[in-house]
Amino acid sequence: MKNNVEICHDKIAENYDTKCDNDLYMRLYEDVTWDNIKRFLPKNKNSLILDAGGGTGRWAVKIAKLGYNVVLTDISNNMLKAAEKKIERNNLSNKIRIVRADIKNMRMFQNEKFGLVLCEGDPLSYCGDYKKALKELVKVLKKRGHLIVSVDNRITNIYHLIKQKKFDEIENFLRTGNVVIQDSSSYIDFPIHAFTQEELKNLFAKNGLKVLRVIGKCVILNKMIDELLKDKKPYKHILKLCIRLADNSDYINFGGHLEIVGLK
Ligand SMILES: C[S@@+](CC[C@H](N)C(=O)[O-])C[C@H]1O[C@@H](n2cnc3c(N)ncnc32)[C@H](O)[C@@H]1O
Repeated sequence: MKNNVEICHDKIAENYDTKCDNDLYMRLYEDVTWDNIKRFLPKNKNSLILDAGGGTGRWAVKIAKLGYNVVLTDISNNMLKAAEKKIERNNLSNKIRIVRADIKNMRMFQNEKFGLVLCEGDPLSYCGDYKKALKELVKVLKKRGHLIVSVDNRITNIYHLIKQKKFDEIENFLRTGNVVIQDSSSYIDFPIHAFTQEELKNLFAKNGLKVLRVIGKCVILNKMIDELLKDKKPYKHILKLCIRLADNSDYINFGGHLEIVGLK
């Protein structure tokens, strides 16, 4: 039976890319993300890359355009259908293989198959058992390969509870990181786990990964001053700052999301 995460993403799949493409904050968020991903792409273009919980293939397509072969997985059939259309439009069907898979079960892939594993845009926060999922992602990663994961940041997510006047839930959320959120496009509720930096670093260390980098996305502006992003000049400056300060410990927790890079 489908869970609410899957139902939500099936529902928003058709308009997902248009919404992301037209949202200025998303543009900033993705530019910061791409700057980070590019630093850890395998030198060898024959390395196979896994985009786990890759949705409509926003990262898979960008990476395949550089010449890599990518396996794109997701739990939502409709997100994968949208990805398939985009992959065909970009003539990348020979570079990207689509497999429907839950990140909590990667048994269909050989151990140590991928040179880089990406899990971008919260699948680990949404999957219901992040410890199990992380183990699976590490299992299929090659030795000396990188795992890049981005998740909800517990500190900034307090604001969602404040906005919804759910003051009674704040203490429990701060302690556990668990909360039910309502997706703003589908209005469907589902539980998430939001991480602290320490928790995320410990999780990586426990799974034998050396933590190379933790960044906040985005550490300047957050969603507050969308207007400013409209002009090219401020955008350029704000992006530069977001990238320069992304891994500065004084700034990381301003980001709505945390992104961590581990080496196996
Ligand atoms: C916000 S979207 C991000 C999509 C893509 N990674 C990106 O950055 O554009 C979150 C994605 O995680 C997927 N997802 C959530 N739980 C999952 C799970 N347990 N296994 C695989 N994918 C999952 C959703 O279906 C959705 O496509």
